[in-house]
Amino acid sequence: MGDLVELRAVTHAYRTKAGPLPVLDDLSLTIPEGKFCAVVGPSGCGKSTLTRLIAGLMMPDRGEVFLHGEKVKSPRKTVGMAFQNPVLLEWRTILENVMLPLEIVAPSMPRSQRETRARDLLALVGLAGFETKRPSQLSGGMRQRASLCRSIVHKPEVLIMDEPFGALDAFTREDLWQLMHRLRAEEPFTALLITHDLRESVYLADEVIVLSDRPARVQYRMAIDAPAPRPISMLYDPDSVAKLAILREQIEIAQGRSGEVH
Ligand SMILES: Nc1ncnc2c1ncn2[C@@H]1O[C@H](COP(=O)(O)OP(=O)(O)OP(=O)(O)O)[C@@H](O)[C@H]1O
Ligand SMILES: [Mg+2]
Repeated sequence: MGDLVELRAVTHAYRTKAGPLPVLDDLSLTIPEGKFCAVVGPSGCGKSTLTRLIAGLMMPDRGEVFLHGEKVKSPRKTVGMAFQNPVLLEWRTILENVMLPLEIVAPSMPRSQRETRARDLLALVGLAGFETKRPSQLSGGMRQRASLCRSIVHKPEVLIMDEPFGALDAFTREDLWQLMHRLRAEEPFTALLITHDLRESVYLADEVIVLSDRPARVQYRMAIDAPAPRPISMLYDPDSVAKLAILREQIEIAQGRSGEVH
């Protein structure tokens, strides 16, 4: 299987009143089909910008973005997106929220088929019985589960997640990490996860990419070969602990803080 996502020498600057703000600098990365890539890096280094370029919501100043070998030139319907705050629509039920992408991407699909697909996914994430509730009637963790269902209901080419678990408490977050692995086992997808949580990156990803400070380049890459299923206890293995220490050090280098006494 080939590379599903490819960024080739992407350079980008935002135009601001104070002049150009360089954000990405000659950044290249690839995500092979079916793989899960986590991206970590200092705050403000350009991670969310990266997600917008892959989704085709913005074009880079220089360089190219490819999905399945095809150059991205406009917003892509076949990308699934999930964010820190699940943007569920309050005037729709949970089931209707999950069905929404299918209405856009597969308008000719019969409603009964869309509904079955959404119900199956909600059951998979433990939300059977909550289909007719409104978003405000669910806990934060449940809303994020529903939001994940919505972002994969249309079987996107790639699932892009920008700190999706950042606002959750530690135990709910770990539940959702495990859920991600279950979802991947049930219906494999290619994923890009932006996170500030190194444990999350090691637990979930096949590869962790550390970005430098702004303008971001790829500073460091680490393969995580642990086979599925991955128990949470994997994070306490000496191998994971050593990996986390290396990643921590890389973040400090990216922040320009290596060598400081803490
Ligand atoms: N539309 C915009 N116009 C001008 N500057 C922007 C715009 N969007 C982002 N920026 C700036 O570009 C830089 C990178 O932003 P981006 O949101 O990609 O960073 P990030 O790595 O996602 O940060 P965080 O970790 O805090 O989420 C920041 O300095 C930000 O202020
Ligand atoms: Mg961001």
